[in-house]
Amino acid sequence: MSPFQIPSTLLIGGGASQQLGPQLAGLGVRRVLVVTDEFMVSSGTVAAILDVLPADIEATVFSGVQPDPTTENVLAGLAVYREFAAEGLVAIGGGSPMDAAKAIAVLVKNSGPLAAYQGYHRIPGPGAPLVAIPTTAGTGSEVTKVAVITDTERDVKMMMLDRHLLPTVALVDYQLTLSMPPALTAHVGVDTLTHGIEAYVSRKAGGMTDPLALSCIRLTARHLPTAWAEPGNPEARAAMMLAACQGGMAFANASVALVHGMSRPLGAIFHVPHGLSNAVLLPAVTRFSLPGAVSRYAEIAREMALCPFSTSDEEAAAQLVPGLEELNRRLEVPRLRDCRGVTRERFDQLKRKMAEDALASGSPANNPVVPTAEDIVSLYEAAW
Ligand SMILES: NC(=O)c1ccc[n+]([C@@H]2O[C@H](COP(=O)([O-])OP(=O)(O)OC[C@H]3O[C@@H](n4cnc5c(N)ncnc54)[C@H](O)[C@@H]3O)[C@@H](O)[C@H]2O)c1
Ligand SMILES: [Fe+2]
Repeated sequence: MSPFQIPSTLLIGGGASQQLGPQLAGLGVRRVLVVTDEFMVSSGTVAAILDVLPADIEATVFSGVQPDPTTENVLAGLAVYREFAAEGLVAIGGGSPMDAAKAIAVLVKNSGPLAAYQGYHRIPGPGAPLVAIPTTAGTGSEVTKVAVITDTERDVKMMMLDRHLLPTVALVDYQLTLSMPPALTAHVGVDTLTHGIEAYVSRKAGGMTDPLALSCIRLTARHLPTAWAEPGNPEARAAMMLAACQGGMAFANASVALVHGMSRPLGAIFHVPHGLSNAVLLPAVTRFSLPGAVSRYAEIAREMALCPFSTSDEEAAAQLVPGLEELNRRLEVPRLRDCRGVTRERFDQLKRKMAEDALASGSPANNPVVPTAEDIVSLYEAAW
C-alpha cells in the first residue's frame, strides 16, 4: 500500500507568490537561500518576489541551476547555503530549480552522497525547510516527493522518491507562467498530461490519485491548446497551473510508468528537454500499453473529449492514440529525429543502453504492459 503524501501547506491562485514573507516567518526562517536559474533573475521574476519580503528576512540568490540540473549544480548551491548560514530555501522556477533546491535541502541535513539516495525511500532524515514557487505548468514538482538530478559521471538522470523531498510549502501562482513562450508551454503541458495519464494507468493507481489524475487530464485537454495559442490568457494559464499541481500529486503517489522511464535517458544523453521527450514518446508508448488497461485508457479518451461519454471502451480507447498524435501536431511537437542534439549515429549506438537505463529506473514496472528491453528499443524506433 503506497502512502499518499503532499506538502503540508499549499496556496494556489493569482498572487500566491506574494505570500512568501508570511510563510517564511511562519516557518521561523530568517535567512534564506533562493535557488533559481539565470532567466528567472534576468526577467525580474526573482526581484519581484523578493521585493515584498519584510526587512527582517535576509535572502541570497544562487542562480546556477541549468535545465535538467546536475549533481555539480546541487553541490555548488549547497556551498552557498553553508557560506550564507541559511536556515531554509526558496525555489523559484520550473522543475529544474525546484528539484535542485530539494536535493540541496536534503544534503543540508543528510551526509549523502546524492547517488546513495537514487530510487525509492533512501533518504535517512528530513532536510531543511523549503518553499517551492513554480514558474512553469508544469512538472508539479512543487507538490511531489520526487527530484530528478543528472549524475554527469554516469550520464544517468537519477530519480529519487522520498517523503523527505517534499517541499514544506508550495506557492502556486499562475501569473508567473504568463511569460512562457509557446514551445515551452507545449512541452511542460504535455509533461503534465503524461503525469495524469501515467498516474491513472499505473499499477499503483488508487482511490486518492484517480480523481486528481482525471481532473489533470480533463483540464489539460481543454486548456493547453489555448495557453499555447494565447500565452496571456489568464483562464487557460490558471487551469494549466491547477492541472500541473493535480498531476504532480497524482503521479508522485501512484508512480509514473513507461513514458517517464524512457524519457529520462533521452534527457540524460541527448539533453532533450523533459516535457519534449515525454511528448515525442507518448503516442507510441500509449499504443503499446493500451491492451493492458483498455477501460482505463477509454476513460482517459472520454475525459479528453475525444468521444462522447457513452462510447464503448473499445471504441473510446481506439480514439486515444490518434487524439494524442493530433495534440502533438497542433502544438508543433517534432519527431524524435528532429529534436536538437539527437543524431541517428548516437541514437543507434546508445538505444540499448537507454533501454537498460529505462528498465533500471523501475518506472516501466508500473506500466499496464511491462516491456522487455527489446520492446523498449522498438518503442524508441517508433518515436524516431
Ligand atoms: N520532481 C518532479 O516531480 C519532476 C516531475 C517532472 C519533471 N521533473 C524534472 O523537471 C525538469 C524540467 O522542468 P521544467 O520542464 O519545468 O523546465 P526547467 O525548469 O528546466 O526550465 C526550462 C526553461 O524554461 C525557462 N522558464 C521557466 N519558467 C519560465 C517562464 N515563466 N517564462 C519563460 N521561461 C521560463 C527556464 O529559465 C529554462 O530556461 C527536468 O529535470 C525533469 O526531469 C521533475
Ligand atoms: Fe514528468
